[in-house]
Amino acid sequence: MTRLNPPRRTSGRRLTGILAGAAIALTGVLGLGAPAAQGAGSTLHDAAAESGRYFGTAIAGYRLSDGQYTSIADREFDMITAENEMKLDATEPQQGTFDFAAGDQIVDWALSNGKQVRGHTLAWHSQQPQWMQNMEGQQLRAAMLNHVTQVASHYRGQIYSWDVVNEAFEDGTSGARRNSNLQRTGGDWIEAAFYAARQADPNAKLCYNDYNTDNWEHAKTRAVYDMVADFVSRGVPIDCVGFQAHFNSGNPVPSSYHETLQNFADLGVDVQITELDIEGSGQSQAEQFRGVTQACMAVTRCEGISVWGVRDSDSWRAEGTPLLFDGSGNEKLAYSYVLDQLNSASEGTPPVDGCSVSVTRADEWGDRFNVTFAVEGSSAWQVDIQLQGVQSVQNAWNADVQGSTGTLTATPNGNGDAFGITVYANGSWSLPTATCSG
Ligand code: G3I
Repeated sequence: MTRLNPPRRTSGRRLTGILAGAAIALTGVLGLGAPAAQGAGSTLHDAAAESGRYFGTAIAGYRLSDGQYTSIADREFDMITAENEMKLDATEPQQGTFDFAAGDQIVDWALSNGKQVRGHTLAWHSQQPQWMQNMEGQQLRAAMLNHVTQVASHYRGQIYSWDVVNEAFEDGTSGARRNSNLQRTGGDWIEAAFYAARQADPNAKLCYNDYNTDNWEHAKTRAVYDMVADFVSRGVPIDCVGFQAHFNSGNPVPSSYHETLQNFADLGVDVQITELDIEGSGQSQAEQFRGVTQACMAVTRCEGISVWGVRDSDSWRAEGTPLLFDGSGNEKLAYSYVLDQLNSASEGTPPVDGCSVSVTRADEWGDRFNVTFAVEGSSAWQVDIQLQGVQSVQNAWNADVQGSTGTLTATPNGNGDAFGITVYANGSWSLPTATCSG
């Protein structure tokens, strides 16, 4: 089967520092010591592309007139999901009368800006139009399948992957299917939807998408896993599993996250993180974002990450400030942690002119942070450091460092091959990059 613009993939790239210990232990063990990002991506999608992945966001159609919103979305993301505009109530408001105007607006914006699209969603118990909410039985089954066929046909050739079915399982310990009107049409409704979607758009990847499926020990995770295993064994056309990944203090990123993603991937499907947001702020939020990013990068079949909105103020739970940009459009600490983690895929970049340098984020304060550099391969080195944005240097140690903004030059001052600088962030918390020449 041919696929629409599959993301570039590098084979067998694995990170070694996998999530370990309790959820709280995510802090401090992940991703510090990312290597020098020679040729590093300076945006989320460029950095993700280094390991053949995408980095996406949900877009709300009514925000496309907001210049700050579209400029961040265009710059940082290359996979777009309509937050509400392709759902059942939006696309089939009256039975048999389809309205694709709002969905088309987002798809057109994405494709005309060189991005791909995740379709969300064809069959769901929630956000059903009124006429569907009142339906049951065979009438509903036929209406649902017609909806899948019509919507997937309308967008044929434009969708990278569809969330064919969304949130079909109960929360809690039962491991049961959610008792919805769709479920009451018969337990085979999910596979029926997948067959209809495949027929309507043979080139789109077909995903099952759900939340609270992150912890490998949870009954809901295992129930979804069992369904996917069953589908794969019987040849039901499923290509991918979407992990929504809505986290907060009561539901933090679990220590088993990488294991969960890997176990699903081992069934022979791709995995995608589809609606990531993590309530919180500062370092603890940033470390959890980094943990999710690292878990995805550690699973070869994890194709990419989408966050569920651009700025905190755009979020469906804005009060939890769960995204990567603040309400004024500034990059948050979480942004730079994600960017650095994505850039760590450039690990193993060959030394330039006989030496290499690794760059590590160290202590942080409210307005500044330390960066340390370790040179290998030469004792007569020069390291060129590229600061990010309007960052400036407050201080340097164990090397002669020339310059204070933009590109700095560091040379040995008799204190060995490891040195450091203190950087004023001035709103940009991304890690500087560095190259070494010997
Ligand atoms: O468009 C109307 C507007 O006309 C009206 O004035 C306003 C008054 O409340 O409501 C607007 O509609 C809201 C819509 O978002 C657009 O903002 C709906 O009430 C509101 O229910 C809807 O919420 C969406 C929610 O899904 C509905 O289930 C969120 O934006 C959207 O982020 C959220 O997304 C879901 C995913 O699809 C599935 N996974 C969970 C995720 C978060 O809940």
